[in-house]
Amino acid sequence: MKVGNSRSNTILQGKCGLATAFGLLTLVGFPSFAAEVAVDFADRIGSAGDGLYGGFVEHLGRNVYGGVYDPKDPTADADGFRRDVIAEMKELRTSVIRYPGGCFTDFWCWEDGIGPREKRPVRIDPYWQQLEDNSFGLDDFLKWIDKVGARPMITINLSTRGLLEAARMWEYLRFPKGTTLSEMRRSNGRADPYPIRYWCLGNELHGHWEYGHREPERYGRDARDVAKFLKKTDRDAVTILCGSEYNQHWNEVVLERAWEWTDMLSIHMPAWQNREDFLRSGDLLGQRVRATAETIAKVNARQPQHLRKNVGLCVDEYFIWDNDVGARGTEYTKGRHILEPNYTQRDAVVLGDLLIALHNNSDVVRFACIAQSVNAIAPVRTEPNGRLWHQSIYDPLRLTSRFGRGVALRPRWTGGTVADLRASAIWNEKSEELALFAVNRSTENGQDLVLSVDGAWRVAESWELSSPPMARNGLDREEVRARKDADAVCADGRLKLKMKPCSWRMVVLRMATGKTGEK
Ligand code: AHR
Repeated sequence: MKVGNSRSNTILQGKCGLATAFGLLTLVGFPSFAAEVAVDFADRIGSAGDGLYGGFVEHLGRNVYGGVYDPKDPTADADGFRRDVIAEMKELRTSVIRYPGGCFTDFWCWEDGIGPREKRPVRIDPYWQQLEDNSFGLDDFLKWIDKVGARPMITINLSTRGLLEAARMWEYLRFPKGTTLSEMRRSNGRADPYPIRYWCLGNELHGHWEYGHREPERYGRDARDVAKFLKKTDRDAVTILCGSEYNQHWNEVVLERAWEWTDMLSIHMPAWQNREDFLRSGDLLGQRVRATAETIAKVNARQPQHLRKNVGLCVDEYFIWDNDVGARGTEYTKGRHILEPNYTQRDAVVLGDLLIALHNNSDVVRFACIAQSVNAIAPVRTEPNGRLWHQSIYDPLRLTSRFGRGVALRPRWTGGTVADLRASAIWNEKSEELALFAVNRSTENGQDLVLSVDGAWRVAESWELSSPPMARNGLDREEVRARKDADAVCADGRLKLKMKPCSWRMVVLRMATGKTGEK
């Protein structure tokens, strides 16, 4: 059903139910005034589609080996994939999954990881200093993602390889039959071409840390050639140019060079835990998205009419990390524990805030992939013998992915102190649910929050994550877990919440059906 536009909308009449008398909920440290935010169904930002809930499986640490793939684990299926991990990816409703890197892609040769396992070569991965025996490769990933029910996003190695290798990989994966490579795929067990649409043209090549780092003029040209091949050969191909989150000169030059064949520009969003403004990472993401969107608009405006188009943004990595580069280690080993921080409540609030920022910039952001999916800077951690646990960031991701799909409405802050609060609102037309996501980034002060929305609503779901800022989970402890049925009162188009210090909230409102006093 459609909701009318005006604040005097009469379609949604009735009364909201009261769960608890709001006035009775008094917490020490809450100022007497409330922050107020309003949403209007006519004021839409964009579509917060399932593309915002992507994942990322890089050959990094125990993401693949010991995570996704662990043939010796009791949870492993006939293909060696951990069933518990597949179940988690489904629970997180992961929509697209990027593979195989990341910086790992720098020396990645796709053909090393196909065919009989015993014949696959063992290589070094110079970037992460790992030993790569290629026992998990492209066909394995594509089989795994099929079981997960997600769509693949493949990163092409443009660091140390080029057009010919990319074209050969495409032929192996996408050409129906009759050529040496397509027949090789068929004899490796996959008769039909894989349904791959999304292609990342390299990874972070603007960065000096990348082996394939180069000038934007050169990258733009290299990427253009591969993008051109993909777009001319494959009408389903969506090409994603490697952008920079902080270097708009890079973005402008590479877009200029490759514009004609580009569908999206990627940026990454590292939320560095050791930065002073770590708790403001969501704001930084918003600023970076807006600055990049401006660059895209500028380049678009210079194009001849027939080349003008909407180039979207793909945040194909967003992550929380302390930038411990020492994690790379000094010995070449396979599947070791690297980049496995134990996330805190504070990190969970930052993650919730990043998702809010994605919603609030969904006019330009089409895809976003949390980096990463298992073990390495990930929401899910595995241990041998079928043991698995959830990091603090798991619940905000799971609940946002479940309820944060629909139309993003613009939150208008109308009163009170809002510096520490952030919110987004997603209207799901199909289920007729309005989901509010909010964070309080102050680690000291609580804050009342009131959402005004036209019509009659009742609280259908109310979740809170509000452990002490440094609380964390582990294999044997769960200090950070979202609590259901948290206090939330909705009456006369006003939803009232208490935002505790350093907390994340999600409240789902459903249109009232005429009954009152219902929660
Ligand atoms: O996600 C971990 C690493 O961070 C990736 O390999 C790289 O692309 C990013 O800088």
